[in-house]
Amino acid sequence: MRFFNREKEITEILSILEGNPDLVYFVYGPLNSGKTALISEIINNRIDKNKYVVFYINLRGIFISKYKDFIEVLFEEYEEDRKPVEIIKSLIKDVPSLCGIPTPKNTLEEILKKKTTKNVFKYITNVLMDIKKEGKQPIIIIDELQKIGDMKINGFLIYELFNYFVDLTKELHLCHVFCLSSDSLFIEQVYSEAMLKDRVDYILVDDFDKETALKFMDFLAEEILNKKLSDDEKELIYSYVGGKPILIIKVIKKLKIKGLKETLDEMLRDEMQKLKYFLEDIKEKDEESYNKIADALEIFKDSYEIEDIKIPKNIREFLVKKNILFLNPQKGTLKPQSYLVWNAIKRLL
Ligand SMILES: Nc1ncnc2c1ncn2[C@@H]1O[C@H](COP(=O)(O)OP(=O)(O)OP(=O)(O)O)[C@@H](O)[C@H]1O
Ligand SMILES: [Mg+2]
Repeated sequence: MRFFNREKEITEILSILEGNPDLVYFVYGPLNSGKTALISEIINNRIDKNKYVVFYINLRGIFISKYKDFIEVLFEEYEEDRKPVEIIKSLIKDVPSLCGIPTPKNTLEEILKKKTTKNVFKYITNVLMDIKKEGKQPIIIIDELQKIGDMKINGFLIYELFNYFVDLTKELHLCHVFCLSSDSLFIEQVYSEAMLKDRVDYILVDDFDKETALKFMDFLAEEILNKKLSDDEKELIYSYVGGKPILIIKVIKKLKIKGLKETLDEMLRDEMQKLKYFLEDIKEKDEESYNKIADALEIFKDSYEIEDIKIPKNIREFLVKKNILFLNPQKGTLKPQSYLVWNAIKRLL
């Protein structure tokens, strides 16, 4: 499927890439808002391959339980005995991004022998410097970074990594660094981390606003259904699923085989069922917590977005962790993860 819009976010990221690297960027937003799709669009179609070398490392789907697992995903091993930059030069002719820092066979073993991140980072820095010497700008993108959020080696691995990223940007101006995450508790930790103050910036990729969501429906109706939707139909879709791209896509695809009202009611019923069982589980375990959670959710009956501190910290963190709510630490707001969740809350409570 073709990519739709996000011009504002694309312009922002392209302008960052044109400048010298000096901050670490955190791309965050609700679940399935299109963070990965946005970054893929930029890597694949919006940047000059002759100017940039992109390392895109996605931790989703990768089992990481120890230090070695994480270090291994940073690298891609090659049999050939060529310098990494030579390998990179031959690879980037064909692909827009690489999935790891190339290392000749056995080098990775050597790097891993010493159980500190020091030589790992030194090795990567040298490769990045070689890329720069070739006249190209390296970019590192790590998707789903929260997966290593609580992994410990000597201290927390994530802090070593943050230190290294700050080094690459603010100190060395060597490499652009983008970290993606839909875990808003993780983003909140990053946001409150003193060590990162003034060294990082945030790019919010939120669900589409209403105007854009309606245009996305037009775009999809033409792509998928080859027909136009009426204004009433679009309004109805928006009232159920809001501006979440993945849900709008789902509705439009289902219209191939089903009616609109039936599709939307089915999706809402599924969401209500999930929420109902979730609440039932809590009630069974602990009535007191259940009451607090129900009280918290009831606040959303009147508004979609509220100030974060209106819900006690432990309850809001629990609801965020369970992906019922999305926390925006920059704005200090909470909202349901989607309109669909919001509708389910309004009907159930
Ligand atoms: N601007 C867009 N144009 C077309 N399709 C989009 C757009 N944004 C998102 N999508 C589609 O919506 C789905 C979800 O997007 P994506 O996986 O990028 O979200 P995400 O924010 O990375 O999710 P997660 O929170 O799980 O990391 C994908 O199938 C993607 O192709
Ligand atoms: Mg993603």
